[in-house]
Amino acid sequence: MAALPPHDVADLELAPLGRARVEWASRQMPVLATIRERFATERPFARMRIGASLHVTAETAVLLGTLAAGGAELSVCASNPLSTNDEVAAFLVVEEGVATFARRGEAPDRYLAHVDAVLDRRPLITVDDGCDLVERLHGAREKDAEGVLAGTEDTSTGALRLRALAGGRGLAYPVLALSGAATRILADNRHGTGQSTLDGIVRATNRLLAGATVVVAGYGNCGRAVANRARGLGSVVLVTEIDPLKALEAVMDGFPVVPMARAAPLGDIFVTATGNRDVLTAGDFEKMRDGAILANAGQFDVEIDLAGLRRLARAHRRIRPMVDEYVLGPPDRRLLLLAEGRLVNLALADGHPPQVMDLSFSVQALACEWLVRHASDLPPALHALPEAIDAEIARLALGAMGVLIDEPSEVQRRYLESFDLGG
Ligand code: ADE
Repeated sequence: MAALPPHDVADLELAPLGRARVEWASRQMPVLATIRERFATERPFARMRIGASLHVTAETAVLLGTLAAGGAELSVCASNPLSTNDEVAAFLVVEEGVATFARRGEAPDRYLAHVDAVLDRRPLITVDDGCDLVERLHGAREKDAEGVLAGTEDTSTGALRLRALAGGRGLAYPVLALSGAATRILADNRHGTGQSTLDGIVRATNRLLAGATVVVAGYGNCGRAVANRARGLGSVVLVTEIDPLKALEAVMDGFPVVPMARAAPLGDIFVTATGNRDVLTAGDFEKMRDGAILANAGQFDVEIDLAGLRRLARAHRRIRPMVDEYVLGPPDRRLLLLAEGRLVNLALADGHPPQVMDLSFSVQALACEWLVRHASDLPPALHALPEAIDAEIARLALGAMGVLIDEPSEVQRRYLESFDLGG
């Protein structure tokens, strides 16, 4: 048996269970399979070190397998302490030879040590989901940024942080922001977050959504998806916003938009999806009904003010896995916090389905390949994914589904390219 790569995972014996999960996911990820075949022939990453901070799920294992087929030497840590699947982590070590540093439920110190363990392997390309690698390389591990060629960032929250970094002290190397990719918005935000957020809430609580009042904070790509899915399941949905354009969009989509102070006493379920902090605060908790459920769909655990909730609570207990009951009052009101305010879809369900991650991770795979070719020509700044990559992924996805589309005629092509609108 080949020597195992460096690792820190919960239990290597879980690898066969991980294999079954990864096989299940990979059967539903045909676009990545096509890319993997090409990578295996062209080897775009031959002996190149890629370091990733991603949710360690079956779908992520399929992405890592694709990069490995292209010749990459891989290391991975978690991008959230609660999202790791320990079976998959074991599989990555034992069967894929990926240096894996991730344990579900790891404490903050260990989480950080795992980020460092990936950086210790001196990646040439960083693949981030929430900026942990980039942030560390612009802080305590600044010196190690010198050896990095380029990076990718998966999330819109991460892109916001990178924009702030780029506009402040500047980025040490070029980073591609993938969250703007059209295929990713379509798959990840609209279909992935919409379904998997509600999946997490239902799995954790078994709450009937029909007839429930669901308050969705934020009407960006994710909030819009959650609001529409909840409405489809029969919930009464209220939206809160701070952005006038998004609020207007919600109104025109038929959702009542109200300030959180008005929504707080009405909601049965609250879902934060803003990318901002302190969206639900002590003032809101004080107004909420007995039994209100609090869930976060945003990248970080800052949207629900946990310190404020703990301060107000007279008592606290865990009543189901990852469901914490906080008792406020008198009179007693019990608020139910899911997944400690972390990403509910990954902590309490399996995250986005493989069909969704097929598109999102195809974006990742092709973005890494593009960076290998072009990074040395890019200034150290935040860059958008080239549109051609989006189009290529959509083409591959349609091909995998057997969907045919029309070709424009020569006359049509010329008409679209012409300024002569009348002709
Ligand atoms: N982000 C959301 N869902 C995910 C999944 N299933 N795997 C990896 N990252 C994700």
